[in-house]
Amino acid sequence: MRRSLSAAALGVALAAGALVVPGSSSFASTQVVDPDISVTNTKAHLDQFQTIATNNGGNRYTGRAGYKASADWVKAKLDAAGYTTTLQQFSTSAGTSYNVIAEWPFGDANHVVMTGSHLDSVSSGPGINDNGTGSAGNLEVALAYAASGQTPRNRLRFGFWGAEELGLLGSKYYVNNLPAAERDKIELYLNFDMIGSPNPGYFVYNDNPAGNEARDALTTYFTSKNIQTEYIDVQGRSDHAAFRSLGIATAGTFTGAEGTKTSAQAAKWGGTAGQAYDRCYHQSCDNINNLNLTALDRNIDAIGHMIWNYAQKDYGSGPPPGGSNLLVNPGFESGAVNWTGTSGVVTNSSSKPAHAGTWKAWLQGNGNTSTENTGQSVAIPAAATAATLSFWIRIDTAETTSSTVYDTLKVQVVDGGTTTTLATYSNLNKNTTYTEKTFNLLAYKGKTVTVKFLGAEDSSLQTSFVVDDTAVTVP
Ligand code: PHE
Ligand code: ZN
Ligand code: ZN
Ligand code: CA
Repeated sequence: MRRSLSAAALGVALAAGALVVPGSSSFASTQVVDPDISVTNTKAHLDQFQTIATNNGGNRYTGRAGYKASADWVKAKLDAAGYTTTLQQFSTSAGTSYNVIAEWPFGDANHVVMTGSHLDSVSSGPGINDNGTGSAGNLEVALAYAASGQTPRNRLRFGFWGAEELGLLGSKYYVNNLPAAERDKIELYLNFDMIGSPNPGYFVYNDNPAGNEARDALTTYFTSKNIQTEYIDVQGRSDHAAFRSLGIATAGTFTGAEGTKTSAQAAKWGGTAGQAYDRCYHQSCDNINNLNLTALDRNIDAIGHMIWNYAQKDYGSGPPPGGSNLLVNPGFESGAVNWTGTSGVVTNSSSKPAHAGTWKAWLQGNGNTSTENTGQSVAIPAAATAATLSFWIRIDTAETTSSTVYDTLKVQVVDGGTTTTLATYSNLNKNTTYTEKTFNLLAYKGKTVTVKFLGAEDSSLQTSFVVDDTAVTVP
């Protein structure tokens, strides 16, 4: 069997935090979007960090096997979701360390919104609250954004720092090795270090005058969820310090370390007054039981809120590149949501690469006489001054002919009873590098039409037409 779309696979993708934003990238930057980042998935990432520590001498410390295993695992998760990732190696007195950098390969690369967390623990324990929590949250937000099928206006980058516990070494190494032009493109850096403390406080960093807008966005978010916050001047005690020293706006949240919760704080946040926010801070008991999952859940939703909204912030570059996409779930990352046609065509099968993310529309490829289709209805505004259909396509085939068309993919527009074929691709167009195709749809302004991909194969030798990252763009 060439592929199958199991209901379970689709369910996992949706549960993984897929948030379908109608109109995708067309939503205004002022509109506040609050994705629900899965605390279940985030906890599963923490279980993985605990397992890594347990299997590697009880820690994830720089220079030890548990750190490299953590970095490799995080990188693999991000690779599988379609991120462009880098393992950045550097040396420290305790041995070799690594930063994992992941970038979502869409949006304006001149405006980068970056989120970071340190991935290393101290040598004495598994480092689950410090800083499995920030890393698991950072990772889950990155995976949920990929699954959301949105196209950001800005470039999203996620950093997982090594050797923070040795003096913020990974984040310092990263900024020191960024060319000046690349530093200037970073509009905001958000840091998350300890966000699931067992006796939690709700602290928002307040140590960067250039970061006040993001600081205020965080406090406003918590207030909207009826969670009281306090500002904390963290004095460069975590990885945002390297970015702050470059004049980059920074902000972050923190649920407390060795400090003691006051009775006033216990009154508003619950928990135990007179006790540390994290009694296991930098100790062997900072394990999988050293967590407050409510605090973790609230903080990951705050990260999601920041990423979803800052992804769309207009940093003065005008409208998002290419204007607004009228298609919903245009990169198929929410599965078949909003696409109709032959079931199983929209797939996350690993047999064919996606152009981005993991999902795509894979038409034909079975080598039998058959047809398959997928399509989406779209209303093209009467006032549109331009309307463009675009998509990326990859074609592989077992046909060997250089002259005869056997298998085809038609790109069609269905307007009521009239079907117009914009293009026909075939086994003769074999190209296993994704290429982008564009077509003018302005003739359909004021109409609701269905954009449709229709495949057909003859009785032997497969041809696979794989389509991803579709768009009907209006200015
Ligand atoms: N960076 C500290 C550590 O990893 C924790 C911390 C975070 C302290 C934020 C203060 C503020 O040990
Ligand atoms: Zn620490
Ligand atoms: Zn820390
Ligand atoms: Ca995709």
